[in-house]
Amino acid sequence: MVLKDKKIVLGVTGAIAAYKALELTRLLVKEEATVWPVMTASAREFITPLSLSTLARNAVSSDLFELTEGSKISHIELAQSSDLIVVAPATANLIGKVASGISDDLLTTVISASGAPVLIAPAMNCKMWENRIVQENVARLKKLGYLFVGPETGELACGYEGRGRLAEVSDILEACEDALTIKDLKGEKVLVTAGPTREAIDPVRFVSNASSGRMGYALARAARRRGAEVVLVSGPSYLPKPSGITFVPVTTAEEMRDACVRYYPQSTIVVMAAAIADYRPTKSYPTKVKKDAKTLSIEMERTVDVLHYMGKKKKEAQILVGFALETENIEENAKKKLGEKNLDLVVANTPAGLDSLTNQVTIINRDNDIEVLPPLGKDEIADRILDRVARMRE
Ligand code: CTP
Repeated sequence: MVLKDKKIVLGVTGAIAAYKALELTRLLVKEEATVWPVMTASAREFITPLSLSTLARNAVSSDLFELTEGSKISHIELAQSSDLIVVAPATANLIGKVASGISDDLLTTVISASGAPVLIAPAMNCKMWENRIVQENVARLKKLGYLFVGPETGELACGYEGRGRLAEVSDILEACEDALTIKDLKGEKVLVTAGPTREAIDPVRFVSNASSGRMGYALARAARRRGAEVVLVSGPSYLPKPSGITFVPVTTAEEMRDACVRYYPQSTIVVMAAAIADYRPTKSYPTKVKKDAKTLSIEMERTVDVLHYMGKKKKEAQILVGFALETENIEENAKKKLGEKNLDLVVANTPAGLDSLTNQVTIINRDNDIEVLPPLGKDEIADRILDRVARMRE
């Protein structure tokens, strides 16, 4: 909930993609941010202020000379009180004006008068984007600390194919979170594992579990947002691959182990959220097992405990976080895993969190300091776990 209670000026300029600012507004409001929409005159040609203000739950400001009255906010207040300014979509014109220090309308004035971070999401024709002046303006702004997200390559509204599409709204939202996050894990190399593993019975069947991968993916996203370099080793999952990380897809426990062994030595922090199979079929049939017999027994053998291996190899500066999935004696069993696997933190949870958007976890450290968290969304839990890790670093 990085965006909760944050005051965000959302600048909308005149591009076809302006309609996507409506969806961005909806998502920002859903995250409990306060959105102050500011439209340029040409943005009003593409979407109506009424749509934007309805979704933002705040009046749209456009006029530099309007006085503070009723629900309207002065440009100085917009500039001084905002935590973040996002311009989505941003035209070449807006980028050029900001890069040249021109403030001839409300949006450019707010940008120039504010000390808040400015995130720009460009959208334009690909030839315009490639224009050397536009590129120089972008480079200049980046050098000055302005943040950018996109543009992306694809089909453009003008009929061209190329780079110039507004970034996906979900990526803009993530870039907003990024801009507002303290980089307390900068310099850290974080290895996260996520999802289930699959152990083959025959070419069409496997043994697995209900893990969705959500907890591990949330941890990977949060660690990256907090400035870490992240490797995410993931078992089969339907979740979209988080951006800005090294993604290593695996299927079996053995592949999970191989990937972890490869990335473990250079990792400074490891969070093992994967639900790795403890047993696998002793043999996997080369062809589909037919239903000839009345019963079928599958002999299983133990897989390697990856976290146990890591605990044994752990170097002093490495922080090792494990999960403990328990159905009984939760704290007691989790503490046992903390000791046996030489962990720094253990996150105890129950099957209620499997394949769910929320979970209820208890975090325990080596000093037996027990933190019982309430039921929370997995993004929030990821940040709470990483808060503990960051505190340990201090
Ligand atoms: N783990 C692992 N390798 C395995 C099994 C589990 O590295 N083969 C890791 C998990 O990623 C998790 C921790 O060990 O971080 C605990 O997993 P859990 O399933 O709770 O317990 P197990 O150690 O497998 O023990 P048990 O199933 O007996 O409770």
